[in-house]
Amino acid sequence: MIGKKMETALNEQVNKELYSAYLYMAMSAHCDSIGLKGFSNWFMVQYHEEMLHAMKIYEYIQRQGGRVQLKAVAEPPSEWESPLEMFQKTLEHEQFITRSINDLVDLAIQEKDHATQIFLQWYVTEQVEEEENDNDILAKLNLVGGDKGDRNGLFMIDKDLSARMTTVPTDFSKGIEAALKGNP
Ligand SMILES: [Fe+2]
Ligand SMILES: [Fe+2]
Repeated sequence: MIGKKMETALNEQVNKELYSAYLYMAMSAHCDSIGLKGFSNWFMVQYHEEMLHAMKIYEYIQRQGGRVQLKAVAEPPSEWESPLEMFQKTLEHEQFITRSINDLVDLAIQEKDHATQIFLQWYVTEQVEEEENDNDILAKLNLVGGDKGDRNGLFMIDKDLSARMTTVPTDFSKGIEAALKGNP
């Protein structure tokens, strides 16, 4: 079981993960529109990752006898000045999500909710990876001179990012575990 306070906070996190998915979907569309297919691919893979993050919490709330409450997902921006700006915004957003996960852990400790505390550990680890990925790509973008850099460098990074593949399933109708087993 989970307390009302925890249930509300987890529902808010579902919304934040869905917004993350929406944001990266918008970035993917923007990259596609400016001819950066590799960047577009990277952000679409990221979209799938965020959907999994949302679904894991969705399912956890239900398994704990709580009620899932879906709120409106905010409209993301649709234009960015450059790939560099997109990754700066992505890193900023992930840092915001990390703080949000940390607040959830604090609440779980405060509420003596051991199960949720353990459940959230996956997200704590995941956020380290998320920020690391963004920092790596930001470093590469800065290496090729950021916004004012040479186009060749940017196209090489674009080619690099086109290799990213999703391991995230899209059908969660039989639950997370079954979905993950079906898509190793
Ligand atoms: Fe996430
Ligand atoms: Fe994320």
